[in-house]
Amino acid sequence: MKNIVVLVSGGGTNLQALIDAEKRGEIKGGKISCVISSKEGAYALERAANAGIPSVTLPRKNYADSKAYSEAILAELKKQRADLIILAGFMTILDKCVTEAYPYQIINVHPALIPSFCGEGYYGIKVHEKALEYGVKVSGATIHFVNEQADAGAIILQGTVAVENGDTPEILQRRIMENVEWKLLPKAASLFCEGRITIKDGKAYVDYEG
Ligand code: GAR
Repeated sequence: MKNIVVLVSGGGTNLQALIDAEKRGEIKGGKISCVISSKEGAYALERAANAGIPSVTLPRKNYADSKAYSEAILAELKKQRADLIILAGFMTILDKCVTEAYPYQIINVHPALIPSFCGEGYYGIKVHEKALEYGVKVSGATIHFVNEQADAGAIILQGTVAVENGDTPEILQRRIMENVEWKLLPKAASLFCEGRITIKDGKAYVDYEG
């Protein structure tokens, strides 16, 4: 069984989707062994407690800079013997000390179709505000590996939704979460734990037969 450590900062609906998928036996070969929060009192911590999953809070505000914070995260990941790290609404960019220690072992969910509406400054509701501002007719979410550049690692899965007239950022966010994020994030976790993702020339390929 691979140890899955989930990093969160907020509401944790993606964490909940992972917990529910694990309960249904849909994460083959892996179990959520720990949740790490960058914010005290994040609702995601309650979701972990309700599911009986141990959690650790490492508040970002207690560290001077990204490097110091990333070192603390790295030490905790090692202590937890993480095999797969999932950033599920984790709003802090990790320094290369973490990404280099876990190459192709960190997965992020981004609420847009990368390479659109991504990179530094694009997170949470802001992503949907930008997509609506631009006037795109299709949006979605991307599950990708994390490397040293924000939202630039190999793409594992993507899914789309239509943008409708009258959408607000909140409505679009919810449609993307329900139809894409909550389905594809657990699926990617399972594919990883089953060893069905291979990397070639910096790109990720999923074995759909396995
Ligand atoms: C999700 O929509 C996730 O894709 C996004 O924040 C939300 C967190 O919701 N993540 C990012 O923007 C990361 N760049 P949750 O806490 O309910 O899972």
